[in-house]
Amino acid sequence: MKPPRKFYEPLAIGAPQPRRELPVALERMIHFFPPHNDKLRARLPEMIGNVDVLLGNLEDAIPIDAKEAARKGFIDAARANEFGETGLWVRVNCLNSPWFLDDVTEIVAAAGDKLDVVMLPKVEGPWDIHFFDQLLAQLEAKHKVGKPILIHAILETALGVANVDAIAGASPRMHGMSLGPADLAASRGMKTTRVGGGHPFYGVLEDAKGEGVPRTLFQQDPWHYTVAKMVDACQSYGLKAFYGPFGDFSDDAACEAQFRNAFLLGCAGAWSLHPRQIEIAKRVFSPDAAEVKFAVKILDAMPDGSGAVMIDGKMQDDATWKQAKVIVDLARRVAARDPAMKEAYGF
Ligand code: GLV
Ligand code: MG
Repeated sequence: MKPPRKFYEPLAIGAPQPRRELPVALERMIHFFPPHNDKLRARLPEMIGNVDVLLGNLEDAIPIDAKEAARKGFIDAARANEFGETGLWVRVNCLNSPWFLDDVTEIVAAAGDKLDVVMLPKVEGPWDIHFFDQLLAQLEAKHKVGKPILIHAILETALGVANVDAIAGASPRMHGMSLGPADLAASRGMKTTRVGGGHPFYGVLEDAKGEGVPRTLFQQDPWHYTVAKMVDACQSYGLKAFYGPFGDFSDDAACEAQFRNAFLLGCAGAWSLHPRQIEIAKRVFSPDAAEVKFAVKILDAMPDGSGAVMIDGKMQDDATWKQAKVIVDLARRVAARDPAMKEAYGF
């Protein structure tokens, strides 16, 4: 067994010290861009201020004959832009692909100091993280990268879900996880062709009300179990959980509902695959102004966070104080980034 202190020793001589805490960052949407697309790359400077995280996608959805151009395009974009408060992430190809090694070695060599997080697809167990952790340490040492590059795992195989706790605890380099509903559906043998969202056949039929009386099928969320399991694993290990992609760009309401379920269950953000999903994620993953004002009332009424008070007919105690603090802390991070939300919250 690895002794606790060993987790905080660099895995290569000259690599930066692993972090004990995650950097505090607002990550309501992880906005995907295809780095081989010159037109989109040219628009990145205006995009940077409008999103919390920009991610160059090298994996699925990038054609095989564009894999190298995407990697090169990402490096060019990383070097050509200043990202300020906006996170710069990359989704590399998966560990057993012919592109993974060059993705990681070339990107860390050319832009390691600009890169915050590497998203690793199809993580199946802690062994995947251990390998990647060591490799990143070697590359950080070789290229004198000053701060540790974090790992974000995509939870998108049945085996990965079975091992989710071990993945979360595999390294201090872990940033968090995203649910990947498309690959996960395939890996589990689910019978759907959608990328996230519900399914009209997955539901609960109300009780029979008598001969010939129609009965309603109430749709259920097929992702509920996995999102909740991922949130528990992530929060237990001090990581952040994210809902991943929502593929139907023609149904903003369904996208919003899926994002909102994730937000309420504890997720910090979701992926935006289309510019229209940026605003949806901003709206959903910024706490509601009325909720924030009520949470502020709770904190003000219980300055030391203990005891019991009644506010608007509702009982508050130490536990609701903690709930309120989650909401107000997030609202303060949103307000620091967004003057309109600052005003809406009354900060
Ligand atoms: C995302 O990568 C997914 O498979 O849903
Ligand atoms: Mg996937």
